[in-house]
Amino acid sequence: TWNAVPLAPPDSIFKLTASYKEDTFPQKINLGVGAYRDNDNKPWVLPVVKKATEILLNDPTIDHEYLPITGLPEYTGAAAKLILGEDSPALAEGRVTSVQTISGTGANHLGALFLSRFYEFNGEKKAYLSDPTWVNHFAIFKNVQVEPVTYPYYDPKTIGLAYQPFIDTLKSAPERSVFLLHACAHNPTGVDPTREQWGQIADVILAKGHYAFFDCAYQGFASGDLDRDAWAVREFVKRGVPLLVCQSFAKNAGLYGERVGALHIVAPTQETAQRVKSQLSVLQRSEISNPPAHGARLVSLILNDKKLFEEWKRDIETMAGRIIEMRKELHKLLTEELKTPGNWDHIVNQIGMFSFTGISSEASQALTEKAHVYLTTNGRISMAGLNTHNIRYFAESLDKVVRG
Ligand code: LMR
Repeated sequence: TWNAVPLAPPDSIFKLTASYKEDTFPQKINLGVGAYRDNDNKPWVLPVVKKATEILLNDPTIDHEYLPITGLPEYTGAAAKLILGEDSPALAEGRVTSVQTISGTGANHLGALFLSRFYEFNGEKKAYLSDPTWVNHFAIFKNVQVEPVTYPYYDPKTIGLAYQPFIDTLKSAPERSVFLLHACAHNPTGVDPTREQWGQIADVILAKGHYAFFDCAYQGFASGDLDRDAWAVREFVKRGVPLLVCQSFAKNAGLYGERVGALHIVAPTQETAQRVKSQLSVLQRSEISNPPAHGARLVSLILNDKKLFEEWKRDIETMAGRIIEMRKELHKLLTEELKTPGNWDHIVNQIGMFSFTGISSEASQALTEKAHVYLTTNGRISMAGLNTHNIRYFAESLDKVVRG
């Protein structure tokens, strides 16, 4: 048995963490995985999460029974409000179906599986993903027999948005195509459309009857403001674009390993939303039976308690603020001190956890091999891996590879 099983390559993002851990070089830097680190390169348990944990520990009503198949209702309800807005008309009209998922990846999977089963594809089952996108998106869609195809998104010449080619693809794609959109803080490029561009994207999507598959893994990380980062999703809902949203609390609550996420499907009517929910329940039951409780309880406490919620917002500002500081510092080192050839303004213009440096895959590899700086070969760096202690070493190493 298993003689025909081919050897698969290791995951392109998580293999970096493993190699970094094995490396004994003192100045090594991990800019691979998108996980927040404090200024001492330590994982950061948010103070608000510590408080919520304490509350749970002392709550005598907590047990380890199963959650409902679609998850903890206080959690999914509050999570829906967080992304769609307190005053969302879709929520008020009962048109939103929310299901707790195994973080954002689980939400993407369940959303893609639901589409694969029930979406009336125009011809072949395809989903348009931005070029580039989070690599896992490809595998997630393939797993449910939806063929991933790409739409232009990033322009290497400007290290910015390939806006016109993106719009042209929206226009030329068959009607009712599925487009995956990053709600904010695009992974891996850190390049988001402006509000005006989002408006025009929504216009074309509506005109063509496309479906918007939003992935929102970084709410709060783009601007430090939860509402501002949800703007595109809310605008699309307001305009009546058919859509779903995949939501993750891995990054903005630092709950990576707890796998807290949700899938929200906005339906045209309350009655449709109920039918959608019934089918999502059937899918969820066969896949995970019911979702894990601990992380959802933590997030539910934070979202449903005014004081904890305010504290969480401050924690998010701390994380987003440190990343913005690192952007400024890196930009300053490259442009003012080292006078590294090229334009580095994108470092401060891009937003969220990642920066797309624009360096070649050879240069990325050289950084890893020569300088012990771990990053994906597409030149993406996780800004959270930089801190006041290692940023100079990183800037100097980058400067060296750019000069060749
Ligand atoms: C990343 O892109 O680094 C993160 O989203 C972590 C992951 O699961 O790949």
